[in-house]
Amino acid sequence: MPGNKKRGRFITVEGIEGAGKSSHIAAMGAYLEARGLTVRVTREPGGAPVSEALRELLLDPGNLGMDADTELLLVFAARAEHLAKVICPSLKAGEWVLCDRFTDATYAYQGGGRGIEPARIAALEEWVQGSLRPDLVILLDIEPEAGLARAASRSDKDRFEQEDVAFFHRVRNSYLARARAAPKRYRIIDSSGEQASVREQILAMLESLQ
Ligand code: TMP
Repeated sequence: MPGNKKRGRFITVEGIEGAGKSSHIAAMGAYLEARGLTVRVTREPGGAPVSEALRELLLDPGNLGMDADTELLLVFAARAEHLAKVICPSLKAGEWVLCDRFTDATYAYQGGGRGIEPARIAALEEWVQGSLRPDLVILLDIEPEAGLARAASRSDKDRFEQEDVAFFHRVRNSYLARARAAPKRYRIIDSSGEQASVREQILAMLESLQ
């Protein structure tokens, strides 16, 4: 009976630009599906039509001087829609949700990067998510200099990628501080090495989850 279905797990993947999230998430999705799970791979900001429209606004380099509070509120508006339309229904249906970034990115980018008080982010988190938090957060950690060098080989820079290296050091430090403060819910993986060996570590960790 669908009503009695066990809630799926909610796993998020975080890291600064160039940490390798996209390719590893694809491998994680395939790995879990091969084990018979139904997996919904999604991303933030985005993942639902209205949220993807807000993503465009957030990443558009034409909006370079956007006010930090505006940015924060747009991120949570996109998240509210994503939760309502995709994440909550999927979890309820027993699917596993694999999300490329979630609220830890808000603490890291809007909190660490832009300097917004964590308490203000926590208030929005409570409002938009209620008690929902990821079951597991995988933090792909890399030095900003190395990550940005990897990201530079891609196409045009979005609004966040225009930030200087000091911004990404603050973002990384916030991620690491949150992960170290709650080791049960976070796994930090050094993603500076060969992609294949990073992937092996991630998949071994998923194996131990089941
Ligand atoms: P990406 O998906 O290509 O990494 O781009 C998303 C950008 O959005 C990335 O630079 C981080 C930023 N972002 C925030 O600033 N706050 C958030 O809460 C989220 C989810 C993303």
